[in-house]
Amino acid sequence: MITEAEISRLVDRFYAKVQLDPEIGPVFNEAIHNWDAHLALLKDFWSTVLLATGKYKGNPLLAHFPLPIEERYFARWLALFSETANEVMPAAEAAIVLQKAELIATNMKRVLASRP
Ligand code: HEM
Repeated sequence: MITEAEISRLVDRFYAKVQLDPEIGPVFNEAIHNWDAHLALLKDFWSTVLLATGKYKGNPLLAHFPLPIEERYFARWLALFSETANEVMPAAEAAIVLQKAELIATNMKRVLASRP
């Protein structure tokens, strides 16, 4: 059973890595001015996706529309996310989390590819 504590550790560790990443770090560091608020929002997001708590009410697809995200960034995002999930939870849970992330990333890539 995935817990809020695991989600909290996942989000904290994932974005700590993201901030230092040479490829995708700059996109985050330029767009995010309040990391505490971003981490809290993303914990609500994953709590909603994985535990159906309904804490997150936003639109992640729209939120990425204005960002300078290239298609190749998704492979790096997913690699870091997978690595981190396996550090903070048992492999069977990490696999579930990664499956959700891959699904959302695939949708997001499609939406971003449709940008003018
Ligand atoms: C290369 C891939 C990605 C990059 C560079 C990226 C970057 C960002 C950045 C910079 C923000 C903050 C936007 C702002 O506050 O102005 C953000 C928000 C967010 N991202 Fe990503 N992201 C990526 C992929 C993903 C994926 C795959 C997911 C989900 C599985 C995700 C979920 C979210 C969510 C939920 C938010 C908050 C949206 C809101 O404001 O409600 N992102 N992302």
